[in-house]
Amino acid sequence: MSNGKGYGLLEGKKGIIFGALNEKSIAWRVALACNREGGDFALSNAPVALRFGELDDLAEQTGSSVIGCDVTNDDEIEELADQLDEEYGGIDFILHAIGMSPNIRKDQSYTDLNYEWMQQTLEISSISLHKILHFFDEADILNDGASIVAMSYIGGQRIFSEYSDMNDAKALLESIARNYGSRLADRGIRVNTVSQAPTKTSAGSGIEGFDGMFEFADQLAPLGNPTADECADYCVTLFSDLTRMVTMQNLYHDGGFSTSGISEKLLQTLKDAQEYKEDD
Ligand SMILES: NC(=O)c1ccc[n+]([C@@H]2O[C@H](COP(=O)([O-])OP(=O)(O)OC[C@H]3O[C@@H](n4cnc5c(N)ncnc54)[C@H](O)[C@@H]3O)[C@@H](O)[C@H]2O)c1
Repeated sequence: MSNGKGYGLLEGKKGIIFGALNEKSIAWRVALACNREGGDFALSNAPVALRFGELDDLAEQTGSSVIGCDVTNDDEIEELADQLDEEYGGIDFILHAIGMSPNIRKDQSYTDLNYEWMQQTLEISSISLHKILHFFDEADILNDGASIVAMSYIGGQRIFSEYSDMNDAKALLESIARNYGSRLADRGIRVNTVSQAPTKTSAGSGIEGFDGMFEFADQLAPLGNPTADECADYCVTLFSDLTRMVTMQNLYHDGGFSTSGISEKLLQTLKDAQEYKEDD
């Protein structure tokens, strides 16, 4: 657990954090943690998300600038890279915390996906990581030794029925992280994904059955579900120089969920439910 004051792990580092929508967002919590650790960064989100104005509060709190960018739009990413170049010269850390599926939002079942929407899911949630790295590299704003973290979910490996085409999007995101990681490693640049447990945010709660997924994971994971703030602390370590040799990994931050089969707690819940059914 952090000591509240920080350890100065990101002193002298400059970054960009994508995806803070409101104070529950994982990116929002990461921004606060990076600020606590002495990092200097810009905040970015889609122009439509900036209209809510909440990001300005976070920017003020952390002394950050806010730059609008729809990550599906090549020109906007190029412009963003130019602005970062002007403001910071080079970037040492990037958080990609972006995800959205129109199919999930509009309750379209996996076997009857709208393919245009599926394309949007992949463009927003996965291909955007490739584009950001491509255009940032082209603009020469990735500093040697930089660290890139993209937020993922275990749906990339295992099927979570209500997670629909986001299961596919996370598998692609993790693959892009590995591929790019292998190509940037000669400059000491690291690319990893953090596979976070269900977390109560706008994107999370928008999934049908989210509460059940959250409870199930919490009862199965020996340590329980980590919060967004705990995820933020983990991301800070990955941005820091303490993890210089970690790259091309999908790192589970899930309280042990991914390697658990069944737990006493979950068994008890199932037993209670069975007894309740028999009494009925
Ligand atoms: N909440 C969870 O349970 C959970 C678990 C594991 C992983 N994740 C991942 O964490 C990341 C952050 O999600 P969150 O839970 O904090 O929810 P969130 O809704 O707060 O964040 C998602 C962000 O994506 C942004 N976004 C969507 N379309 C965009 C576009 N075209 N251009 C730029 N930004 C765009 C949204 O504006 C929003 O800020 C996502 O990748 C999500 O899949 C979430």
